[in-house]
Amino acid sequence: MGGRFKGFQDLQRRPEHIRIPYAAAAGGQGDDRVVLKSRKSVEEARSWRYDHQAWLIGPGIGRFRDPADPRPDLPPFPALIVRPSRLAPLPAEFGPRPKFAGAGRRSIVRIDIRPGTTLYGTGEVAGPLIRNGRRTTCWTTDSFDYTDQTRSLYQSHPWVLAVRGDGSAFGVMAETTWRCEIDLRRGIAFRTDGPPPGVIIIDRGSPAEVVSTLAELTGNMPMPPRWALGYHQCRWSYEPDLRVRELAAEFRSRAIPCDCLWLDIDYMRGFRCFTFDPGRFPDPAALNAELHRAGFKTVWMIDPGIKAEPGYGVYDEGRSGKGGGATTHFVRRADGAEYNGEVWPGACAFPDFTRAATRAWWAGLYSDFLATGIDGVWNDMNEPAVFDQAGKAMPSDCEHDADAELGGPGPHARYRNIYGMQMVRATREGMEAARPQQRPFVLTRSNFLGGHRYAATWTGDNRSDWQHLRWSIPMALNLGLSGQPFGGPDIGGFVGEASPELFGRWMGIGSLLPFARAHSIKDSEDHEPWCFGEECERICRAALTRRYRLIPYFYTLFYTAHMTGTPVVRPVFFADPTDPGLRAVDDAFLLGSDILVSARVEPGAATGVSCSLLKGWRRFEIPGLPEHDSAQLPTLQARPGSIIPLGPALQYSDEKPVDPLTLLVCRDSMGQAEGTLYEDAGDGYGYKQGDYRLAKYRAEAGGPPRVVHIEGTRAEPTRGIEIIEV
Ligand code: NOJ
Repeated sequence: MGGRFKGFQDLQRRPEHIRIPYAAAAGGQGDDRVVLKSRKSVEEARSWRYDHQAWLIGPGIGRFRDPADPRPDLPPFPALIVRPSRLAPLPAEFGPRPKFAGAGRRSIVRIDIRPGTTLYGTGEVAGPLIRNGRRTTCWTTDSFDYTDQTRSLYQSHPWVLAVRGDGSAFGVMAETTWRCEIDLRRGIAFRTDGPPPGVIIIDRGSPAEVVSTLAELTGNMPMPPRWALGYHQCRWSYEPDLRVRELAAEFRSRAIPCDCLWLDIDYMRGFRCFTFDPGRFPDPAALNAELHRAGFKTVWMIDPGIKAEPGYGVYDEGRSGKGGGATTHFVRRADGAEYNGEVWPGACAFPDFTRAATRAWWAGLYSDFLATGIDGVWNDMNEPAVFDQAGKAMPSDCEHDADAELGGPGPHARYRNIYGMQMVRATREGMEAARPQQRPFVLTRSNFLGGHRYAATWTGDNRSDWQHLRWSIPMALNLGLSGQPFGGPDIGGFVGEASPELFGRWMGIGSLLPFARAHSIKDSEDHEPWCFGEECERICRAALTRRYRLIPYFYTLFYTAHMTGTPVVRPVFFADPTDPGLRAVDDAFLLGSDILVSARVEPGAATGVSCSLLKGWRRFEIPGLPEHDSAQLPTLQARPGSIIPLGPALQYSDEKPVDPLTLLVCRDSMGQAEGTLYEDAGDGYGYKQGDYRLAKYRAEAGGPPRVVHIEGTRAEPTRGIEIIEV
């Protein structure tokens, strides 16, 4: 292979301080560089280079390069939607600045922080909200049953949000797709296995501004179909089709709201993607049609591992490189042969999603699949997970034929972190091509910074215990702070058995997070809301009624996230970034800017939730909840000065028109309040042509709320309006 560097494992075998050509794999033209063997030795070298090259690439956005990096230009970085343009040299007063050390394939970048600065983000991480003192490794990993000690989860987000003592904030992005450790023990450090990364720093007046500027650089979350905001019921697996039908009937007969039922891998014929088991799912189109009539959508799983079996159409097409002008669509070993690794169906080949031609082929596979009436796609195992390899990762020296757009051909060590992201990019493109009039819904387990452009996410294989319930809040928050607004945990926990108390409590919290889906591992006891006794069932019904009544508010928040990148759920400190007492709060969160949700995440009596976090916020309840033990649900408080729109209680999001519209009015000390309601068709792209209604309501002291501003051409639906003062 012409002396080409083959990746991380190769590097580990090399003696210290040898010279290797790194430019070939990096896509640059540089020279040989000194490689320091261990991360420790990089630190010990302490040869910090402060004299970075730096440019202003937007207002308050600096981009930095290691001055010792010989490449003429930084390679493309897939998190970004634009190649940053050099507006001007960085002004001298620009605050946070990186220093660089190391060289070749052991680079380190450090950004110092002032005392009182708290750190967040780093993507999908278990444990507390605040990340000071923690280490996270960006290396997408199938981390079944993870804990807060697990360094690499399924996703990689080389991004840190730093909030200074005075409430101003900055964000740091390391432009690397290589394995990268984010070390927050002393300031912010990124250690990469690849060439020195470019660094982008966004310096802003508040954390909210930093996060929305991140969306300017990495793109906006597409507007999801409204049904995706409803409740989702999943398990591994509902099968055969009769069980799915019974499940649907049970939801409706028990009046537990639900929008979507999920089909895990067992619907497939021998785990072959894009097939249906003829015995268990003989007629998926009939099943989907029947479920649609009852108001359910369905999401079906597709994994990247394609059974390596001549005669299986998808494999044969992939091997022949159908439509791609290449010999294969599959990832190759270092010696050029097709790479095979074990997943559910046995030996599998893995599409090389770093190629546009492969993504186009993959996208095309969805047209027949979706023609059965499938509404959404769940891409799992796309780290990608391979069972028969150390760390469940294919060898780092496997070859990707990546397009120049992503940086050109290179080893798996370089492209692993974006494999899942490129897979869901292809899936989304397939859904868009198959049904151009509908908004795709894709859920992914693996992803990368910027991957919110393609898919929503969940936090993988958590456990049915109180610790994981607790972590589910900061995990959703840190994902939002890392640019992924649409996420949530497996409600009830995936591994193990939930107790009735845990399941009910989790439903109370999970139903107020952006993605609300219960899921459970194969062979676990049944984990539907009615399986834990009547008390738990009542709590679940009430929790989900809350969510459904809140859908107009949720939908407005998703629209805001879509337009501005502001997360749907936000840490409590967003309400007052200058208050140091709020920085670590993670058993409470803000749903949008107007609702504070405070939860008890320990077993035992659910009383004792502090309602004094935010001064003046008023406790309220969603009106008309079915009977339940109210101490089991999180406490809600409204921001003084807010108007919160509610819809009627529904069994599924499209059950009936939003009649009546309820406005919860929580006046400030002047007796005034304001709120926003976004509405559109709930699916499709008409809103892009103006078919939406964005109404701003305002209530003056003593007066009712009135519409004071309207955007969009959509007429207000005929409906009653109910005003409730809280
Ligand atoms: C692993 C996923 O994390 C889990 O949610 C799923 O049920 C199993 N794979 C089986 O597909």
